[in-house]
Amino acid sequence: MKKINGRFYKQNILSTEQFTKSDIDTVFKLAINYRKKVESGKAITDLKGKILTALFYEPSSRTFGSFIAAMQRLGGGVIPIQGITFSSVSKGETLEDTIRVFANYSDVIAMRHNETGAAQKAADVSPVPILNAGDGVGEHPTQGLLDLLTIKERLGRLDKIHIAMVGDLKYGRTVHSLTKLLLLFQNITFTFISPPLSPMPDEILKMVRKVGAKIQKKSAIVDIIKDIDVIYMTRIQKERMDPKIYKKMKNMFILDAKLANKMKKNSIILHPLPRIGEITTEVDKNPRSVYLTHQMRSGMFVRMALLKLILTK
Ligand code: NCD
Repeated sequence: MKKINGRFYKQNILSTEQFTKSDIDTVFKLAINYRKKVESGKAITDLKGKILTALFYEPSSRTFGSFIAAMQRLGGGVIPIQGITFSSVSKGETLEDTIRVFANYSDVIAMRHNETGAAQKAADVSPVPILNAGDGVGEHPTQGLLDLLTIKERLGRLDKIHIAMVGDLKYGRTVHSLTKLLLLFQNITFTFISPPLSPMPDEILKMVRKVGAKIQKKSAIVDIIKDIDVIYMTRIQKERMDPKIYKKMKNMFILDAKLANKMKKNSIILHPLPRIGEITTEVDKNPRSVYLTHQMRSGMFVRMALLKLILTK
């Protein structure tokens, strides 16, 4: 996949594979800058006069909300479209037509769709940049970036990290995007813990092996809890599988307070949310937990940075 290599202006953001280390640095520096500005209460007008269409074919609250908040905090406007029953799509309009229509009204489109590859399909016909806000079981690049920023800020480094990814590694797109980003760094160890029916896809395992990062497969969280720097919990993607399979997979891996307390002092607990019981609520008080705080908030700043970089020269 073609790298951004500093050319953010008018770029589609479809996959984390597009990012070089230096591109990541550019996004993070700007995101941190925006955090400072927002937290100091300063009004920002960097994207005044620009409009974002947030086109969400799949349910979303945080990604949808944070894209809208990001654009509005930059002084821009939004066209929020969520739930196909309220739009022409329910009348049978194609994705391509919908994209062409909204490109007339807006300068950028953030899109979520249940089909893998839908963001690419949209980008193929769109005269304005497409930001992939999740395409089926494919990718969720802005989530990968916000996860990476959270890790960097909390651990103070991105090299020499042992991360355990737990849950639905086959159908969960956030772990795909984050894994690809981590491959840019040195000395990364991945421990993948998933139900046997939902392993990390071979295509991604191949990429990990290619750069020489270490992979461990474990069947229980307790086996590695003391060794890891990051645990990344995910929910089972109920909507992407047969209900019978879901029944077999749900509640297989749960991080509770007893387990969380065994983690290294400076380790962290991430989850893209929503959680469906994979982390018990008592873990929320654990100082290692960042999923409802730092991680969530980073999403808005990373999206602000990307919008600014894509929409201005
Ligand atoms: C994730 C997604 O949509 O892939 N949610 C999110 O954007 N934070 C994770 C999920 O739905 O499980």
